[in-house]
Amino acid sequence: ETLQADGLYLLPGAIDSHVHFRDPGYPNKETWKSGSAAAACGGVTTVFEMPNTNPATGTVEALRIKQKAAESSYVDYGIHGLLGDDTIDRLEELLDAGVTSFKAFVGNTFGNLPAPTDGALLEGFEKLAPLGIRTVVHAENSSIMARRQQRMEEAGRIDAMAHLASRPAVCEIEAIGRVLTLAEWTGARVHIAHHSSRDSLFLLRDAKRRGVDVTVETCPQYLLLNIGDMTRLGGILRLNPPIREAHHNQPLWDALVEGVIDMIATDHAPHTPEEKSRPNIWQCDCGFPGVETQMPLMLTEINRGRASLMDYVRWSSVNPAKAWGLYGTKGVIAAGAHADIAIVDLAREGVLSEGKLHSVSKISPWNGRVVKGYPLHTLVRGRFVMRDGRLVEEAAGWGQSVKGVQRMPASRPRNVESYTSNILETPAGVPPTA
Ligand code: NCD
Ligand code: ZN
Ligand code: ZN
Repeated sequence: ETLQADGLYLLPGAIDSHVHFRDPGYPNKETWKSGSAAAACGGVTTVFEMPNTNPATGTVEALRIKQKAAESSYVDYGIHGLLGDDTIDRLEELLDAGVTSFKAFVGNTFGNLPAPTDGALLEGFEKLAPLGIRTVVHAENSSIMARRQQRMEEAGRIDAMAHLASRPAVCEIEAIGRVLTLAEWTGARVHIAHHSSRDSLFLLRDAKRRGVDVTVETCPQYLLLNIGDMTRLGGILRLNPPIREAHHNQPLWDALVEGVIDMIATDHAPHTPEEKSRPNIWQCDCGFPGVETQMPLMLTEINRGRASLMDYVRWSSVNPAKAWGLYGTKGVIAAGAHADIAIVDLAREGVLSEGKLHSVSKISPWNGRVVKGYPLHTLVRGRFVMRDGRLVEEAAGWGQSVKGVQRMPASRPRNVESYTSNILETPAGVPPTA
């Protein structure tokens, strides 16, 4: 069986470090089957799924329920377990049971999972550093945002600018600084989720120069949309962190080109149309689907000459593979029957339409956007999951966990001489003298 691919480009399938498939818990928003179908149709061959489901992925029991749901997946996947105050003592068992990585919600967001205390975050990093495991962090300061949102609500403000003002860039700067400090001190690997502002790039650049093992993602919405779009679209565009002023767009793009930001993820965060279009902005759920639209949106920018196709492949596939321990063990590099591939038509033009999304959530701020560049065929480990632009329905269940091929060597050791950093290793008795 041959495929006519003249004039098409063969790319490694995209690896999306940040999706919410809502399963278990919110089938009215998404399921593993629908979310992974959207991934397959977006040229995405591996997703990493977030723990703010119901139940949250913070116990082995909850993980088992999610693994069962993921048996319907079209694409391969990793599962981020929950790092919170009450999961610190279960990190090892969650890893043994199959999570690939952790997520800490440092900042309030959908699911209302309490932010870990700084003490718990430090302890979690201490435990995970020698294991080499990377933790995704939603880095926003929750006390600033809670107070500012309260002030806005008291003032009766329900507009787009009020939402932006409730979660200003300083929330992100402060939390990123804190997380980087704890990561540097412990040697833990961290990954900054949905990076949204130009104003914290200096922290990331400096930390990378000092050798902190931090990876960073941004999303198409932070590169291509701004507060003007939110004024037009309202709650549809409400998400955390917020879409910011236009002056953030180009610096984020430049940071990708420079390598301060490593990759594109989508923060695919579906909600129902009803939950996204309430008149009061504070009552609109945060986030929107993105896993199916990332590739056409980004290829459009590549077609405009804003970066090279090789740059895009680094952002969509190579760098996430490296961050999650899949580089060289999985993907196009493994060739033949193991290939994870997106075959794209860079010349194909079209208009994104929310009604055509495979996500349960058929509401998107990208609706009506003109794009050039589409994935036409997607292969996961050598099998078509999308062909000629159509989902291959029989491929439901083909996806499998990447846990078995993941290689995360221990990160560099901490400076144990000057600091007994790990509370569990602290020696009893008399302190050493100089
Ligand atoms: C996400 C969601 O809905 O789960 N929402 C969002 O606005 N980004 C949660 C998150 O990533 O913070
Ligand atoms: Zn988040
Ligand atoms: Zn998210």
